[in-house]
Amino acid sequence: RIKEIDAYQIYDSRGFPTIEVEVTLENDIKGYGLVPSGASTGQFEALELRDKEKGFRGKSVFKAIGNVKKIIAPELVGKSVFDQKDLDEQMIKLDGSKNKSNLGANAILGVSMGIAKAAAKSRQIPLYEYLGEGKGNLIPLNEIQILGGGAHAAWAIDIQDFLVIAIGAKSYEETLEMTYNIYHGAGEVMKSRGKCVGIADEGGWWPDYNNNEEPFEVFLEAIERAGYVAGKDVAISLDIASSDLFDGEKYHFRSENRSFTKEQFYELMVEWCEKYPIISVEDPFADTDFDNWKRFTKAFGTKIQIIGDDLFTTNIERIRYGIEHQLANAVLIKLNQIGTVSETISAIRLTQSAGWLPVISARSGETEDAFISHLAVATNAGQLKVGSFARSERMVKWNENLRIQRSLGSNARFVGAEIYEEIFR
Ligand code: PGA
Ligand code: ZN
Repeated sequence: RIKEIDAYQIYDSRGFPTIEVEVTLENDIKGYGLVPSGASTGQFEALELRDKEKGFRGKSVFKAIGNVKKIIAPELVGKSVFDQKDLDEQMIKLDGSKNKSNLGANAILGVSMGIAKAAAKSRQIPLYEYLGEGKGNLIPLNEIQILGGGAHAAWAIDIQDFLVIAIGAKSYEETLEMTYNIYHGAGEVMKSRGKCVGIADEGGWWPDYNNNEEPFEVFLEAIERAGYVAGKDVAISLDIASSDLFDGEKYHFRSENRSFTKEQFYELMVEWCEKYPIISVEDPFADTDFDNWKRFTKAFGTKIQIIGDDLFTTNIERIRYGIEHQLANAVLIKLNQIGTVSETISAIRLTQSAGWLPVISARSGETEDAFISHLAVATNAGQLKVGSFARSERMVKWNENLRIQRSLGSNARFVGAEIYEEIFR
């Protein structure tokens, strides 16, 4: 049973305030929920409550902390920690809004994650085993950022993520080795071109270009230099994060000072997908531009993974709508977009039951916690996206999967790019 729920302010990977929740059980076992935070957030996400007051540049989370201590804790103390779904539902009810705007999704998620971790610890089993009820054993294929742009790099380029997927890897270790070679290769290529400023919010190289095609050249050169064949050993994945580029009518590339009609932007996405070895593209269109999503999925949905992030915001109703209207074939899954562990798992299950692929994802503002590595294995999601191959808030997730694989021993599975057989026909 839950004895105590406490909360306090910690700082995320950008140095911004966030919540940590400490759930203590009657047996004195403790579970901690560390809440991540996005920068290119979708308009349909659950609300992250920030104080918007003078101190902490408006970003403190003391109201949300107060809600945990004064409203959520009194309700949940004394209840069984193993009733994750019930406890999450009680918090949703206590909040009473559609987007968790009363208590804050950050307050609710911190408690929800803390409960899950305390429960697993209390059972003396790893978190992936607890969350997956013993059925999770698939070590995910990684999607790893090489170059960062968009809101994560002051709009140096407009495309938010240039990522690599090691489609030829035979093991989880090999995905890491291939990414390691390409990440550092790309850094060298950029430095030799005199166009590397540093690293962006998620650890990828921060480019200094004034167009969105040069990064492709750099990327392909890095792959070649590392001795890999693009399209065979590794493939390119993009997160266009295009809701940030759309004003309701047109798409804009700030770095190129160029605008596109919906039709022109569609043509650009088609051109890139035909020209480059792209296996996956996330948010190619804005979260309201359903026509383009539908048309693109019809044309490329059996060849390319088309992921909705801002489009779905891990929201069951939005995912259901997307499945009905065939808007995509994959869903980015972020705990804090929806705000509880059990709703997140339901979103994953719904995605899988439609024959779509879930991609478990971190936020651009992360913590030193590896909850999502466990979530990916627990649900046999098959893919994980955590930003780049640098900075410990990213590496902790990649490394945790090495540990999970060890702990699963001969039960661990890795199918790599075979996961796409689900959607490529
Ligand atoms: P965010 O970016 O965490 O800043 O929203 C990640 C993404 O768009 O996938
Ligand atoms: Zn995204």
